[in-house]
Amino acid sequence: MFGKLLEYRVNGQKVEITFENKTACIEAITSKIINVFAAFQSDRHDSRAIEGDKRIPCSIQVEREEEALVIKTEDVIVRVYDEFKVDFYDINDKPISLEYRGKRTPLYHVPESIKKFLQQEGHTFDINEAENFKIQSVRTLDKKDTIYGLGDKTGVLNKRYYEYEMWNTDNPDPHEDSFKALYKSIPFFITLKEDGVYGIFFDNHNKTYFNMGKESEDYYVFGSEDGNLDYYFFAGEHMTDIIEEYTYLTGRMPLPQLWTLGYHQSRWGYETEEEVRRIATTMRENRIPCDSIHLDIDYMDHYKVFTWNKETYENPEQLISDLKEMGYKVVTIIDPGVKVEEGYSVYEEGIKKDYFVRDKDGEVYVNQVWPGDSVFPDFGKKEVREWWAEQQKFLINKGVRGVWNDMNEPASFKGPLPDDVQFTDEDHMSTHKEMHNLYGHNMAKATFEGLKKYDQRRPFVITRACYSGSQKYALGWTGDNQSLWGHLRLSVVQLCNSGLSGFPFMGTDIGGFGSDTTKELITRWVQVGCLSPFFRNHCAKGRADQEPWVFGQETMDIYRKFVNLRYQLLPYLYDTFRITEQTGIPMFRPLVLQYEKDEKVKNMNDQFMVGEHLLVAPVLEQGVTARLVYLPEGGWYDYETKEYHEGNRYIMKEAPLDCCPMFVKAGTILPTFPVRDFISEDKDEMLILKTFGENGRYVHYQDNGEDFAYKDGEYNEYEFILEEGVLTTNMLHRNYKQYQKIEVVL
Ligand code: GLC
Repeated sequence: MFGKLLEYRVNGQKVEITFENKTACIEAITSKIINVFAAFQSDRHDSRAIEGDKRIPCSIQVEREEEALVIKTEDVIVRVYDEFKVDFYDINDKPISLEYRGKRTPLYHVPESIKKFLQQEGHTFDINEAENFKIQSVRTLDKKDTIYGLGDKTGVLNKRYYEYEMWNTDNPDPHEDSFKALYKSIPFFITLKEDGVYGIFFDNHNKTYFNMGKESEDYYVFGSEDGNLDYYFFAGEHMTDIIEEYTYLTGRMPLPQLWTLGYHQSRWGYETEEEVRRIATTMRENRIPCDSIHLDIDYMDHYKVFTWNKETYENPEQLISDLKEMGYKVVTIIDPGVKVEEGYSVYEEGIKKDYFVRDKDGEVYVNQVWPGDSVFPDFGKKEVREWWAEQQKFLINKGVRGVWNDMNEPASFKGPLPDDVQFTDEDHMSTHKEMHNLYGHNMAKATFEGLKKYDQRRPFVITRACYSGSQKYALGWTGDNQSLWGHLRLSVVQLCNSGLSGFPFMGTDIGGFGSDTTKELITRWVQVGCLSPFFRNHCAKGRADQEPWVFGQETMDIYRKFVNLRYQLLPYLYDTFRITEQTGIPMFRPLVLQYEKDEKVKNMNDQFMVGEHLLVAPVLEQGVTARLVYLPEGGWYDYETKEYHEGNRYIMKEAPLDCCPMFVKAGTILPTFPVRDFISEDKDEMLILKTFGENGRYVHYQDNGEDFAYKDGEYNEYEFILEEGVLTTNMLHRNYKQYQKIEVVL
């Protein structure tokens, strides 16, 4: 398609290359981040993931080799050949990622002769046999390569051998490993090699395809029919470097308010104010720590966004303020679909100002969601985002402390939105087809801006759909899972890969959203949930209740034990969030992120790390009360029994129903809080340091957990040093009220 490489021109850090049939360019964003670009749809980047100019000055050297154009930075060598084939080498000229130049050899075939025959029984053929996309890159796979990332996809941790699509999708069927797409589109992955690592971000928000070696062992393919060839190559020594670079480019999750790391209780179907009050009281009576109650669509008047159902929720202000007295923050759901109804101010204003998307003939486009006939805000337009941001005042003024954005793929009940519905993309007209994957992103951004402006605390925005870069605005959850053991297992993989994909603040509906949970399942689920970034029990209307107390005393006691564990670990978890804000490295991570040379963890789907110091091996199977745990190199202490284990081995661990195997890395100084009912004003009273081993160092961060004062330096940073069992403290930064007491438990 590109033809022969003819000539090139160096323009700063960019090299513009002319081929026989097309032009293209290679640009060093930094010495480790290389952009590969060829215009197909427009001659600019059109990125909505990357905001601002991310270029860091670096020098590049460009020279001609016999067949290739060679571009060198301090960290990467790029060779560009005819047909715009692009290879990446490290600085010692060792190949890192090469284009595949052989013949495509799909492993699977369905002979035409039997296709029809099979179709008679209803079989479908959704294989992209040797699919050639207009825009694509086919790159070699080495025998030992493993692949991670791609967002919240189902399946296993290592994405090699599987194929996926990026097209934000609300599919209410039980999430299966074979699903190619779910709610989020994060076209970024990390390839771990036997002796190296790299990342690729295909910044194309149209529908994109990733065949990660399913077609053939020898190569993988990513491509699209639309948009541009526009991808970033990240070089580094470790997986963590790649995440740091990707999140440098697309932005990092900002530090959230501390209470948001507490326990959240939700369900679709708290139909009345009384019910909410009952939940709040029962929680306190049973001493289950809880910081937040979420109100699903039930609180609205006929599911009209930014309204309140005064019949069932007579006095929302009073309710919210009473709950506040009890230590709860209220989070409310908001969907994008605006009910079509004369006299409804949000609808009328949006119509008057032309804020809703229109069909190809220019009529305001109507589909159905919860309120019935609904219209869809055109969030790609700045004025619409500003208007939506302003709507948040309605909630904030009532005392709402967080907004949960749902159905923003966008989901619709009367078939999907047609491709040609007219959407805006900032300064130009676009279509649903092009803007689909950005809809949730833009909605979350608008909500974030609204909360930031009118609430002035760190915005707490949850989103179901997103694109790369949404981590700057929102956290997420894995959507409508079900009360299935398979979905508990899946949650570990989804949270690991989301974290590796720069979208670290994630949770799952604990207990399962659809179908009915069981005592045992919810017990095992809260054990994973309490160690997940976002910790919320949520369930669908019409399904069995699943608040902590409904399964009787024993289940509730175990449930409480793990919510207590969460509250004890809060200072540690908050530290991991601070690290994420600074580096992008997630709290919830697969072992491979930390032990990338260890073959045993490259495909580990059932263990995870919480920060650098805690290793968790949850029970994910019904009826199981013991499991094999792999401990990587180093020494490990059993969190409960304090028993010491040498690493680099498997151990058998008894795990009765009230135990979730957790191990602490030797040399850890773990900051903890006393158990409390909610994160109250006295959060700064006491810190308890638990030490595991004789020697170690730990940096602990403390701030007011609420606003942006920390950005002006209002925070403390403690350095704890453990030497031969003796602990000393240094203040690395002191500009906030210190703990009244620090207790050490050796
Ligand atoms: C969607 C959401 C779910 C919510 C329901 C009703 O299915 O994913 O969490 O409870 O809508 O609002």
